[in-house]
Amino acid sequence: MMSNNHKLKVFSGRANRALAERIANNLGDTLGRIVLDNFPDGEISVRIDEDVRGRDVFVVQSTCPPVNENLMELLIMLDAFKRASAARLTAVLPYYGYARQDRKDVGRVPITAKLVANLVTRAGADRTLALDLHAAQIQGFFDIPVDHLHAAPVINDYIRTMNIPPQDFVVLCPDEGSIKRALIHQKKLGGAIAIVDKRRSSATETQQANLIGSSLEGKVAVIFDDMISTAGSVVGAANVARRAGAREIYACATHGVLCGPAVERLRDAPLKQLILTDSIPLPPNKHLPNIKVLSVAPLLADAIKRIHFNESVSRLFE
Ligand code: R5P
Repeated sequence: MMSNNHKLKVFSGRANRALAERIANNLGDTLGRIVLDNFPDGEISVRIDEDVRGRDVFVVQSTCPPVNENLMELLIMLDAFKRASAARLTAVLPYYGYARQDRKDVGRVPITAKLVANLVTRAGADRTLALDLHAAQIQGFFDIPVDHLHAAPVINDYIRTMNIPPQDFVVLCPDEGSIKRALIHQKKLGGAIAIVDKRRSSATETQQANLIGSSLEGKVAVIFDDMISTAGSVVGAANVARRAGAREIYACATHGVLCGPAVERLRDAPLKQLILTDSIPLPPNKHLPNIKVLSVAPLLADAIKRIHFNESVSRLFE
């Protein structure tokens, strides 16, 4: 257990201050004081406005769009805290951007998920707390401890309130890469399983035609994904489900990046409700009436408390 003068303090970057405030509230505290600004040439300026010497500091920053700005701000904040003699520095990354480039699947491409892990570590982080990384193996890209949380319990609790009759419930995987994640939900929620055969033709375009597994005729299909970026995957899956006769279609994702054509696609999609978390802020112009946002603040606050008091974080998965 860290001693009293190693008191826990949560600070926020500008990416998702609302979530950081909720986390601090859940810890019965307010956010640490820090002044974040841009110099006239666009460079980021950071000034920590309180003493952090010997503190157990948690820096909350989602590296969501504007990705490069938010990432750079995180790195500069970490540098500032390190130089201000924080005792321990945890980068809390509710959304970890650059994660989808996690292997060399063609020649002469970078592995940005690894590069960003290196940058966060070199900037001064002693540990990382992440939520639904795009691929679990990204944990291994860090040479510092990573606590990897899942929003599944928060999403499952909400799905349970919908009281979908078990015989009608079908967990729908939007692609074959999401089967493992969907099975985690299905294990807790029950229901049958179906998989959409998704082929990606570019970063914004996907083709979905075939369905594998359980019939959707007259059923309630619930799609589970880690993120919605341009919404091609989730809307394609919803259209397949509608053509297959599903009577109601829901989609859930931890991270609502919602970039490019996402909002228009979602507006026209046959989705009764889209369930997201607040890992990424949802500006009013993207807040469609059928979007429900669940907060991951209690989960992250609980994990922060456990890290601070050297208690098991994996307990949160039970
Ligand atoms: C794919 O591997 C991911 O889990 C998401 O399905 C995908 O990245 C979402 O992207 P988009 O919304 O642009 O289809």
